[in-house]
Order: sequence, then structure tokens, then C-alpha cells
Amino acid sequence: MSGVNEIRSSFLQFFARNGHMIVPSSSLVPRNDPTLMFTNAGMVQFKNVFTGVEKRPYVRATTAQKCVRAGGKHNDLDNVGYTARHHTFFEMLGNFSFGDYFKDHAIEYAWDLLTRDFGLPPEKLTVTVYYDDDEAFNLWKKISGLPQERIIRIATSDNFWAMGDTGPCGPCSEIFYDHGDHIPGGPPGSADADGDRFIEIWNLVFMQFETLPGGERVNLPRPSIDTGMGLERIAAVLQGVHDNYDIDLFRALIRASADLTGVDSDGPQRASHRVIADHLRASAFLVADGVLPSNEGRGYVLRRIMRRAMRHAQILGARDPLMWRLVPALTREMGQAYPELVRAEALISETLKLEETRFRSTLARGLAILEDETRSLGDGGVLNGETAFRLYDTYGFPLDLTQDALRARGLSVDTEGFNAAMERQRAEARRAWSGSGEAATETIWYGIRERVGATEFLGYETETAEGVIRAIVKDGVEVETLNPGERGSLILNQTPFYGESGGQVGDVGEITAPGFRAEVTDTRKKLGDLVVHDVVITEGAARPGVAVELHVNHEARAATRANHSATHILHEALRMVLGDHVAQKGSLVSPERLRFDIAHPKPITRAELEKVEDIANHVVLENAEVTTRLMGLDDARASGARALFGEKYGDEVRVVTMGEIADAEQRERTYSIELCGGTHVHRTGDIGLITIVGESAVAAGVRRIEAKTRDEARKRLEADSRAYGDLAALLRAPAGEAAERLEALIEDKRKLERELAEARRKLAMGGGTGEAGAARDVGGVKLYARAVSGVDMKDLKSLADEAKQNVGSGVVVIAAASEDGKASIVVAVTPDLTNRFNAVELVRLGSAALGGKGGGGRPDMAQAGGPDGAKTQEALAAVEAGVRRAARA
Ligand code: ALA
Repeated sequence: MSGVNEIRSSFLQFFARNGHMIVPSSSLVPRNDPTLMFTNAGMVQFKNVFTGVEKRPYVRATTAQKCVRAGGKHNDLDNVGYTARHHTFFEMLGNFSFGDYFKDHAIEYAWDLLTRDFGLPPEKLTVTVYYDDDEAFNLWKKISGLPQERIIRIATSDNFWAMGDTGPCGPCSEIFYDHGDHIPGGPPGSADADGDRFIEIWNLVFMQFETLPGGERVNLPRPSIDTGMGLERIAAVLQGVHDNYDIDLFRALIRASADLTGVDSDGPQRASHRVIADHLRASAFLVADGVLPSNEGRGYVLRRIMRRAMRHAQILGARDPLMWRLVPALTREMGQAYPELVRAEALISETLKLEETRFRSTLARGLAILEDETRSLGDGGVLNGETAFRLYDTYGFPLDLTQDALRARGLSVDTEGFNAAMERQRAEARRAWSGSGEAATETIWYGIRERVGATEFLGYETETAEGVIRAIVKDGVEVETLNPGERGSLILNQTPFYGESGGQVGDVGEITAPGFRAEVTDTRKKLGDLVVHDVVITEGAARPGVAVELHVNHEARAATRANHSATHILHEALRMVLGDHVAQKGSLVSPERLRFDIAHPKPITRAELEKVEDIANHVVLENAEVTTRLMGLDDARASGARALFGEKYGDEVRVVTMGEIADAEQRERTYSIELCGGTHVHRTGDIGLITIVGESAVAAGVRRIEAKTRDEARKRLEADSRAYGDLAALLRAPAGEAAERLEALIEDKRKLERELAEARRKLAMGGGTGEAGAARDVGGVKLYARAVSGVDMKDLKSLADEAKQNVGSGVVVIAAASEDGKASIVVAVTPDLTNRFNAVELVRLGSAALGGKGGGGRPDMAQAGGPDGAKTQEALAAVEAGVRRAARA
């Protein structure tokens, strides 16, 4: 008798020997199918290979695939724990042919494996085929030698397998194991086929068709094979037990739960142990694949599964959270086959513990209410929907948990009343919201949010995914199509695109489908959890209901991740260098750079910034793992996590931690812990490099830091360094001395300028200063007139002043031609003569001669200019004539 782990590997090895590639299980969250909540069969990861959309380097594959069926088409949650073979989580063993072998080899391999390798006696096996599949019937007869009556034709959908409403499908052939006549039940197709004697162990699907949205069925490019064998069922057969929960794996989990609770594993509480064992597997694997409990979508299914198990833990009398203590037993049993379980062990334990702690705080109270409300009900009684809703809304009891709790007593719930109560609450929320003062244009999002639900964000785990368009908005109204060239917004059921929030800008990228392409120019978040993709359509038209592929621009996202993680790192470094008062006031994280504001009263010095950069880059070089956990807000605060100023947080928050650092007492502590919903690098080394490029003031007491990382940082530093090199080369300065050299040069230049001005002035005044000897008598008044060149306007006035001093009493006029061919002119009058001569009037005469107009100043000093630099002599003559006229008057 072999254990589950050996059975799994013998299956894979058998097919590997027969030319099949062993492919790892894909995630429980389907990346390539928008219509599926969870991966529910082995073929899901190969869906696009069957339809020919995707090519792989092999045509035969074999897998052990993680599956969850707990919602949607195959919903098993209600029965789990009470029956022998219902699970929320199970493993499906399968072999696949992508247009390679078809029915003949599929049947041959299955028969060989079961009867030779697994050693099952042929007389215990019965098979079915689709009613008109003569080919399969004859192959079975030939290959297995089974008598005709044990090859049963079935006409129902039992022998036509489909992944869902759309996707690959085909007729199938099922293999049944006869557990013996001590168990009631008949062979498949018989009246008592529903009994437990003949159990289906393997389904061989002859994949031939694809159902398109709308229901049309088309041929696959080539006939293919998809098979599925429930590992738990075949293990039961090979281990000689009838009940899946009696196989080694489940016995080990149930033993752990019995040990911890002290409750007999096979006593009256048997179902509770089974519920716990099953739900532990589903919860742990879902968390390992990135699903966290929430009130929407996948997260809500996970929460329902967790809480159902947690109520059973309470039934078993567990005083403290139980589920998380079972995680080691699970990793022991399954960690080798699924290393993701080991990698995520801490996250799984913490998530379970948190959920159970929180749920337990309301569980007892809720159960007491349930007890009160149902005390008077007899067998077959119905709990009113209002109470079931109150339990849901206030005490966190999902409806199925309430139903489960009542089931043992033969009671049920008025689900219509429950739905009505839910609808009433929504209507109230709507009323409250429309009075909340949000702009009327935003009401559109509220209606959409209510109709299509929250957008599930897949972007922590993946940058590509499929989704279905749920709503389209153009110019503020909902529309049914968006055509090529048009801009608008798309809302989908799920998306890897990050909507702008917490300072991180929205993702950009592409949305495509055959014949359709839209560029995503921005992504926003509305009402907290509705993701709005702003697009421009470049090909085809967008319509609600269409399935599309979403591709986040990888380069931009990777750069944004690095910048976001660097923000956390710098924040902590600034706190270490400047002090605990540093509180982040807001931030902007884009692919190109990061920017954030902190409370700090004065400029940050260069030495401080250098220290900050040192610390930050040290954390980068550490290449430490960046981890994200979900925690209760209070626990998160208690753990020392820093929260962003002004951000709204829910009850549960993501906590991002990175790095290790020794504190003052040389104790290692986590370097940074922050509440954050953004996207981050996996390891700090992915940031590459952090460089601060700016420090400035934004308001009193608030400083702004700007920085770059990765390529942007490197490019910036390289550009700086090149510019410095050019500078040093020009200065002919040895390395590191360019600044001193330049400083000396600037000082030299200033000195030379001063000397040059002085020399020019002297030259202009004919070698000496404006000596009185240059003055002539004009009509009884001393006139000092001179044409100069190369003298600045401002120097001209001081020259005139000087000449005035020397003349003592008289009029001074100096005209200067400048280098650009124009001219300036200054007239000065000594104080004793200002009653006779007006400098302003005189300078206007000069300016007219220079082709200019006007002039300005005071009666004792005026200046003007003109375009005609060649006419300075004429200007002097004009002023002289003016002086003469005035002297005569
Ligand atoms: N895809 C088939 C099933 O799930 C094998 O049964």
C-alpha cells in the first residue's frame, strides 16, 4: 500500500516514461481564464494550448494539479465533511495530448497504469463511453478485454465534459472502481448508480470542440486528450479504504486536529475534524497562491471556507485559534510536492490566526443569537432571513455558515428574506452616499460598482491576466461600445492593473483580444475597489461581456515597484538620520522617480543627505526579502508599522516589511514596516541603486525629497559624471579639483573685470580723468564735451559726475558709441547753473542727432540713447548749439 506522495509520483513517472513532460501545477487563481474563479481541473492551464492560441515546446504533458471547487459550476462546500468524497481542495492527476495521440493511446495508457503499475484487478473495473462513441467502445473492448456489459454507453452530460460554459470540451470515457458488494449501489447508468459502490476514479476526455461565448461549438484545431484522476480517490482505492478521509494524508491531518483538541477523531464529532482537515488544505493553498480573506470575490470564498472550519473548531471545544496550529502537519504531508506551501508557511499561519482570532470575538455572541432565534423551531423549521442577515452583517457569519450550523438540527434559512435584507441595506448605503457631497459625475461609478461588484486586483502576483469587460464609460456616461480612435474607460471583473492610490501612479499597458487592441493610458480607483482603465481604442471595438487579455507595461511597473520600495527605505533612513519626528506627508511614486514630503523644520544638510543615501543603499545591497502580510489594523500598529498620513485604512491592512538592521543594542530588527497597498520589489536588491536628486521646501516645516532608482538613477549619475568630466577637462584640473580651479577662475575674472573697467574709463577720458582743460567757453559758460567709445552706460554717468566735479561750474556732455553700433549720451549741469540750463532738454537735442527720441533724468543729470552710433560728434554739436542758445537767453 503506498502513500499519497508515492502514488502522485508514480503517476507522473509513468507518463514521463511515456514521453510526457512533467509540468508543475499552475496557480489556483487562473491566470489565463477570466470566467473561472479557481482552477478546477488539470486542463485549465492548457486551455489555450488546446485551442491553438498558445504553443508549448511539448505535445504531451502530465501534471498533478491543485484544484478548488467551492463556488461557480462545481460547488461542493455544503457537503464537505459529511460525505466520503467531497472536497473543496483536491489534486487532479492528468495526462494531456495536444494534437498528438488520441483515444487509442489514452485508453491504452490508462489501462496499463491501473492494471499493471497500480495492480488493480480488471474485474474491479467498469468503464463508460459517450452513447454514440463506437470508436471508444471498440478500443476499450480490444485493449482491456472487458466484457461488453462492463463498457457502458451513457447518453447524458456525465459523459460529455466541459470546463465551463465556454472553452474546450468533448465526449469522455470514465473508469469506475467497484468497492465491493458490501456497499449499496449499482454500476453507472443503472437505477441505483448513485450508490457508493461504483466510484469514478478517472475521466478520459476526448477533447474535440470549443464552446465559444454565445454557445456556438467549433472544432479544436486537432483532436486532443485531457484526463483527470482524483488523487484522493485513487489513493483510497490503492490503500484499500472506501472513504477519502481515511487515506494516509487525511488521517495525518485529522490526527493533528484530534491531538490538539483532545476530541476523538472517529467519534460523534467526526465531521468537524473532516471539515477542518479539508478546509485547512483549501485555505493554505489559496493563501500560498496570493488569495487573502476579504468580503469580495475569491477572498470571500476563502473567508467562507476558513470561517466554516473555524466554527467547527469551536464545536470541537477549541479555546484558542486552532487552524494555524495545524499548518505544520500540512506542510509535513504536502510541502515536498508543493514547495509554495513551505515558502508561504508564515503567511498562511498568520492569516489563519488573524482570521480565527477576529472571528472568535463575534462567534460566541452570534451563535447565542442563533440559538435564541431558533429555540422554538422544530424539525424542518426555517430561520427568518432578517436574523441570518444580521448574523452576516454584524457577526461575520456567511450565509452558508449559518445554514451549516442549522443543518444538524434539521433547520434551514429563509434565503429570500436574507437577500431582501441585503438589498435593503444596499439601498440605504446608496441613499447615504448620494447625500455625501461627492460630485454628481461620480454617481456613475456608484451604479457600476453596485451592478458589477468590486474589481478583483491580481496585480500583486501577476502583470498579465484575462478579464471580462463589465462596463464602458465615455464622457461621463455608460455606453455599449467604444470604437477605434475613441477614448473612454473600461471596467472589468478582474485586473492586474494598479489603480492610482497611496501615491503610486496608475499602471499603463495594453488590453487585447483577437481583432481588438486598446492602449491603457492610466488606471484609477473609484469607491475604493472599482478599477477604472482609461483607454484609447486602437483596433476593433470594446463591448461589455467580451473576454480580453490585460498586459501591464512591465518596464514601467518594475520601475514603479523599485521606486515605491525605495520610498519606504528612504523614509526609514530619514527617520534614523533626522529623528523620530519625520513623518511622511504624502508621496508620488512613478516609473521615473519618487518624491515625498516629510515634516522637518529646516533644510536637510548635504552631510545628512549623504548619510541617508548610505543607509538606504546599504539596505539595497543587503538584497533582503520584501514580505507582505495581511494583518488586523491594531496588530499592524502594535507591530510598529508606520501608516501614511491621511490614508484611509480598512480593518485589515497589508503590511510591507523589508531589511534587517542592528539597533543601538546590536539587536537585529526589521528595517522598515509600513502599511501599504502598493506594489513592491521582491528583494531590495531589485532596486539596484537609490540616488537623491532633490531636497527643497514645499511649505513651512515641510521638506520635499526627490530620488531615482535603478536605470533612472544610474543614467542620472552617469550624466552628472560625464558633465563633470567635460568640465574638468576644460579646466585642465586634476581629478577632484575642478571646483577649486573654477572658484579661482571666477575670482580672477572678477578682478580682471574691475581692472578693465578702470582702464577703459581712464582711456576714455584721454588718459587722465575728465580734466578741466578739456572744457571750452561757450557763450560765457564752460562746456565739457567729449565722444568716447567702449564705455558702459552706467560708467558714463560716473564719468559725467567726475567731469562735473572738475569743471566746477559748467555743462558736461559725453556721447558714447557702443559696440553694437548704437550710442548713448549723458548731459550734466553743475548745481549753480540748473536755473539756466536743463540737462533733460539738452540731452534730447543730442538724442535727436543720434536718431533717437526723448531722454530722461533730472535737470542736473539726464541721459538718452539713439540707434546711430556714428553720429556722436553731431550729437555733441547739437548739445553745444543748445547751450549757446540758452546762454544767450
Ligand atoms: N478535465 C476533466 C475533469 O476534470 C478530466 O474531469
